[in-house]
Amino acid sequence: MSELNPMATAPYAQNARPFLYGGELEGIAEVLASGQYGHGDVTEQFERALADFLGVDDVVAVASGTAALHIALAVAGIGPGDEVIVPSMTFCATVQAIRACGAHPRFAEVDPATLCLRPRDVMDALTPRTRAVLPVLYGGRAVDFSDIREALEEREIVVVEDAAHAFGSYRGTARVGSTRDALTCFSFGPIKTLTCGQGGALVPQNPGQARRARHMRLLGMAESPAERAHNITYHVEGFGLRAHLSQINAVIGLAQIKHFPALEAQRKELWRAYAEALDDATGVLLVDVDVDRSVPTLCAVRVPDRDQVFTALRDRGIGVGTHYPPNHLQAAFRRWRRPLLITEQIGNEILTLPFHQLMTTDDVRFVAKAVREVLR
Ligand SMILES: Cc1ncc(COP(=O)(O)O)c(C=O)c1O
Repeated sequence: MSELNPMATAPYAQNARPFLYGGELEGIAEVLASGQYGHGDVTEQFERALADFLGVDDVVAVASGTAALHIALAVAGIGPGDEVIVPSMTFCATVQAIRACGAHPRFAEVDPATLCLRPRDVMDALTPRTRAVLPVLYGGRAVDFSDIREALEEREIVVVEDAAHAFGSYRGTARVGSTRDALTCFSFGPIKTLTCGQGGALVPQNPGQARRARHMRLLGMAESPAERAHNITYHVEGFGLRAHLSQINAVIGLAQIKHFPALEAQRKELWRAYAEALDDATGVLLVDVDVDRSVPTLCAVRVPDRDQVFTALRDRGIGVGTHYPPNHLQAAFRRWRRPLLITEQIGNEILTLPFHQLMTTDDVRFVAKAVREVLR
């Protein structure tokens, strides 16, 4: 495994990184030799593997998590002037997907313990122009809107989930993405639990959404690449993007998904090791990912004097990060700024600890000890 995953420095020096199991390189070599690099059979095999894993009829693979969000919002009918409720505490990709549809982000607060939207945060942010809610499953934790589902349905508000962090996590006893009460979007970017190098997918709620998403990911063309290979012409039926998942990327995901049980167990173990090692550490608040039900993507804490703690840990060679600087404070989203005091406080306190599968529980304890020392 070490030849496949060489590290120039100690594992804890990196905040996150992909993990290769074997099979990825051989798969890429086969695709390269086939000369078919675009959307193809391998992409469709990956879609099937995702659908089987989730226990759903269909999954649409796309080029990235951002593309999945953009296409899902468009397929749900979100367009110019519509308002989408979104937590400010997310990666800027979530907000850019809303902007890509010409819609407006309505930034909302989150639960300070989980950094996820709560039903009441959604209800507080509602306006007559709200057409969608876009919860972010921070760190891998599922969100549950069953209490407000009726209220949202009455207002014809759709739910599109940003599950970029949550592939494999459960809501109750069902995998995120398997329940049809939201359009769920995954990212298979380099540091996600399951990676394609770059990639994403959305789980449609019905065949109509699946068809529209498939058209949109391939420039609005009605015919699939396989059909186009035999036809004299093709038919462009609507707006589209170049957002298909290449076979080169899909084959990486296909090699990875076979190892999901090991990945799931290891990530839970690392997260639990942090929870234990930081238990009662003065000043440290662990962001709760509901580890029994989730496959954690990251391990975040809130600390006082974050900037000093960040610098002191970096000085010790520990790869800490800040996920995320609040979006409502970003220049590009200034127009939609409103006071979000909880999020602003979290933005000053958030610190993500090194978290990836080349780390051992000893590495976790080393980092936790350094955090305690720096905070002393
Ligand atoms: C919360 C969140 N949403 C969306 C995305 C976008 O996914 P991608 O990088 O695959 O476009 C990411 C990726 O880092 C993310 O962390």
